[in-house]
Amino acid sequence: MQATVALIGQKGGSGRTTLAIHLAVEADRAGVPVVLVDTDPQATAALWGQWRGKDSTPEVLDCAAPPLLAGKVAALRKAGAQLILIDTPPHANATAVAAASIADIILIPVRARAFDLAAARATADLVKTWKKPAWAVFMSGSPTATTIHADAAKVLGVPIAPVRLPERADFHVGLADGQAAQDLAPTGKAAHEVAALWAWLRTLLTEGEGTHG
Ligand SMILES: Nc1ncnc2c1ncn2[C@@H]1O[C@H](COP(=O)(O)OP(=O)(O)OP(=O)(O)O)[C@@H](O)[C@H]1O
Ligand SMILES: [Mg+2]
Repeated sequence: MQATVALIGQKGGSGRTTLAIHLAVEADRAGVPVVLVDTDPQATAALWGQWRGKDSTPEVLDCAAPPLLAGKVAALRKAGAQLILIDTPPHANATAVAAASIADIILIPVRARAFDLAAARATADLVKTWKKPAWAVFMSGSPTATTIHADAAKVLGVPIAPVRLPERADFHVGLADGQAAQDLAPTGKAAHEVAALWAWLRTLLTEGEGTHG
């Protein structure tokens, strides 16, 4: 596998960084050389990488300057990174465009709430103009609210990842200690959900099933 995945969205707090961190940790646990590239000037993912510790994995690279992104990602690929996850800031079209232009796949994390769905719909429309395969990933919802998610899926305009990461303490309580849900509770529900989401993404990336639809 050699793939670049951009996590994009117009709305703040939709779960991009949470999703990026958990997928990066899961890929790392699966033995895939992975780098999480943080393009957000808030540097949330990079900060988490610092909290996790020097020389820890997954590697987190800070790259808040859009013109440098393509070159940095090319260098990472050359150095052996098989999976590059790009976390992006909200409302940052220059960064989002830079990330999308080098991505094989785009993920749009979204909460199934009215304002968030409206913003995600705008992101989905934008992504269509970039002609890249894109999926929405539901974040922070009720683990059991299937109707809400089914209704939300109808209005988004992009396909939906088959696994969602619902609202769970395990997705955030360990972050300040540099931990992800899989470190905190490896057999917990959150860890299982990330594993299932990663299995789906890995299949998508390795089989090249990146068709928009
Ligand atoms: N599935 C989840 N369960 C519990 N908490 C979550 C979940 N997803 C996200 N959060 C929390 O919601 C908040 C926003 O998430 P996050 O920082 O990942 O979003 P973001 O889109 O990266 O935000 P920003 O716009 O600041 O970059 C954080 O406090 C995070 O811990
Ligand atoms: Mg973020």
